[in-house]
Amino acid sequence: MIVVVGNTKGGVGKTTLAVQIAIARARAGQRVWIVDADIQGTASSAIQFRADAELEPALACSSFSDPRQLRSQVKQQRENYDEIIIDVGGRDTGALRAALMLADKVVVPFAPMSFDLWAMHDMAQVITDISAERDGLLALAVMNQAEPRERSADNHEAQEAVRQIEAFRLLDAQLVKRKAFSSSSSEGRGVAEQPSPDAKAVGELDRLVKAIFDQSEGN
Ligand SMILES: Nc1ncnc2c1ncn2[C@@H]1O[C@H](COP(=O)(O)OP(=O)(O)O)[C@@H](O)[C@H]1O
Ligand SMILES: [Mg+2]
Repeated sequence: MIVVVGNTKGGVGKTTLAVQIAIARARAGQRVWIVDADIQGTASSAIQFRADAELEPALACSSFSDPRQLRSQVKQQRENYDEIIIDVGGRDTGALRAALMLADKVVVPFAPMSFDLWAMHDMAQVITDISAERDGLLALAVMNQAEPRERSADNHEAQEAVRQIEAFRLLDAQLVKRKAFSSSSSEGRGVAEQPSPDAKAVGELDRLVKAIFDQSEGN
């Protein structure tokens, strides 16, 4: 299974989700490879932090920003892993499109802010372009950095706006804006691996990971 975490907008939580999802799946016993396709290399530095801290399970991590190299490496290595999680940069790049050509699923984080919602239309266009070239790419939109209030009008409005965009399937699972996500991810730690884990963050991530890996074209 190849999962891209992508959005043409920066700062929406792509790297945070990619790192957390990869660690959660590795902890569940999957052979995971995290591919950093962003020249800024944020995901690789996080995984390097993890390696330096000798946290188990260790995660394989590589960086490719050249689309051709990304394509050929992922094609050659795919049999060696159960899951490949690809983190991309916040622009419409060749690497993003190359990754989407190979992916089973693309997870598209968005924050409940109006400029992020506009960007969702750009990302929808990229997905529509790719889907014209190939079948079977499932695009899952995920609200990240959601307002903590139970019945936040901003969260609700953003979800309704994204629900209208045909290219996406909106997941019910969402991640609230929590210190636990930002502080753990930059150090290559899962939220469940923190010295005193934030139970809400752990619960939200569990639910998100389940939702992503349980989704298939048919349901
Ligand atoms: N759910 C969240 N709660 C708190 N902070 C978050 C959350 N998701 C992302 N962040 C923070 O927002 C910033 C942008 O996230 P990042 O994952 O780097 O975005 P991207 O990779 O899309 O550019 C980072 O400082 C990150 O720590
Ligand atoms: Mg990033």
